[in-house]
Amino acid sequence: MAQYILEPFKIKTVEAIPITTRAERAQFIAAAGYNIFLLPSRAVTIDLLTDSGTTAMSDQQWAGMMAGDEAYAGSRNYYHLQEVVREIFGFEQFVPTHQGRGAEQVLFGILAQPGNVIPNNTHFDTTRANVEARGSVAVDLVIPEGKDPTNRHPFKGNMHLAALETLIAQTGVANIPLGMITITNNAVGGQPVALENIRATKAILARHGIPFFIDACRYAENCYFIRQREPGYRNKSIQEIAREIFSYADGFTMSAKKDGLVNIGGLLAARDPALFEQIQNRLILTEGFISYGGLARRDLEALACGLEEATDEKYLAYRTGQIAYLAERLLEAGVPIVEPPGGHAVFLDAKRFLPHIPQAHFPAQALTGALFLEGGIRGVEIGSVMFGHTDASGAPVYADLELVRLAIPRRVYTQAHLDYVAEVIAAVYRQRDSVRGLKMIYAQPSLRHFTARFEPL
Ligand code: F0G
Repeated sequence: MAQYILEPFKIKTVEAIPITTRAERAQFIAAAGYNIFLLPSRAVTIDLLTDSGTTAMSDQQWAGMMAGDEAYAGSRNYYHLQEVVREIFGFEQFVPTHQGRGAEQVLFGILAQPGNVIPNNTHFDTTRANVEARGSVAVDLVIPEGKDPTNRHPFKGNMHLAALETLIAQTGVANIPLGMITITNNAVGGQPVALENIRATKAILARHGIPFFIDACRYAENCYFIRQREPGYRNKSIQEIAREIFSYADGFTMSAKKDGLVNIGGLLAARDPALFEQIQNRLILTEGFISYGGLARRDLEALACGLEEATDEKYLAYRTGQIAYLAERLLEAGVPIVEPPGGHAVFLDAKRFLPHIPQAHFPAQALTGALFLEGGIRGVEIGSVMFGHTDASGAPVYADLELVRLAIPRRVYTQAHLDYVAEVIAAVYRQRDSVRGLKMIYAQPSLRHFTARFEPL
């Protein structure tokens, strides 16, 4: 078994977590229509719904919040953030945004036109939605290994380079305003992208004169995987790896709610001065002035500190080690998961966990309910509730994979909490034959997973 990597912090402030009885949990989940999005957080003991905006901030960040200079323009916190962005990413021109999708909305609002095609290793939902809202087409080009839950490729998030070449040849350069790569690749399990693959993606796009942007939410975790797994990077620092990655980028978007170690915030950067001018204009229209972008200035200070803290190797060893530890404990109990685990979450494979439940009865959704009932754990379905739909003839179309994502918030839970999570899941696995499927009794036509309601069969 992997040796557990010590939490590189001690706890100064505590927040009580709800400890409930099984009878109370049964009431909560029934009242929520068996949809964990409809649970109040006071019902949840261990909340693994997302790693986004759920970070515990450090004493330095909280001290920085008190040093917020709430000037509308030119706040000193903005200049601090500017220094940090220059140092880590090597970008001179950037704006803050209220969160990741704020950056996406501004960028695609300028670059994406109806009929355009935008390639990415895999678009995150909001990225895809912002591309599609402009009438453009979002194309996912991850390598085939990325879609196989048992393939142990070290960089399962990589861009499929040959497919990118083919797409450019078929679509024509004039219809591709930019190409993107998402690090780590959240939608295929938080899987990293190799530096070699980033370099090659840039080379292909540059040969055709297409700008290259990075979706940088979890870039620090990606840097750590490069250091561990890619030949030639063992002796480089996280900062050196980050500088090399971003040296290839013409710009980047970032939800700072992940590797920015803050509860709210985002970044958008671009090298081209003409594009950056348009970004500033659009930012003022929709997010806020260029020196705050929809955030309080104290938030900018917390972000400047958080970006620095997230590049600390000891922190990243603990962070990725925590995910690997939970994955190993689950594998020891025989629980089927997506392997290898990625940087921010462990994904349970509900098709193999609950083989007796057909896709029509939503096995991954049923599993989220079972985890909640057994131990108050909230994971999220990434399967046919989220991605399923009906085709033109009214026949149901199911997702390829039926997964439950257990996303681990940064610096929030300890090893003891993870042991508890592993024990609860192992208990559900032992009684898996008794878990029943669900019938969907209410659904909105789009983004139905947020509000759908179910009944047990
Ligand atoms: N890009 C990626 C890769 C993301 O994972 C997210 C958010 C966004 C963009 C959008 O950022 O939420 O700040 O507007 N992911 C969260 C998650 C919601 O749970 O994975 P945002």
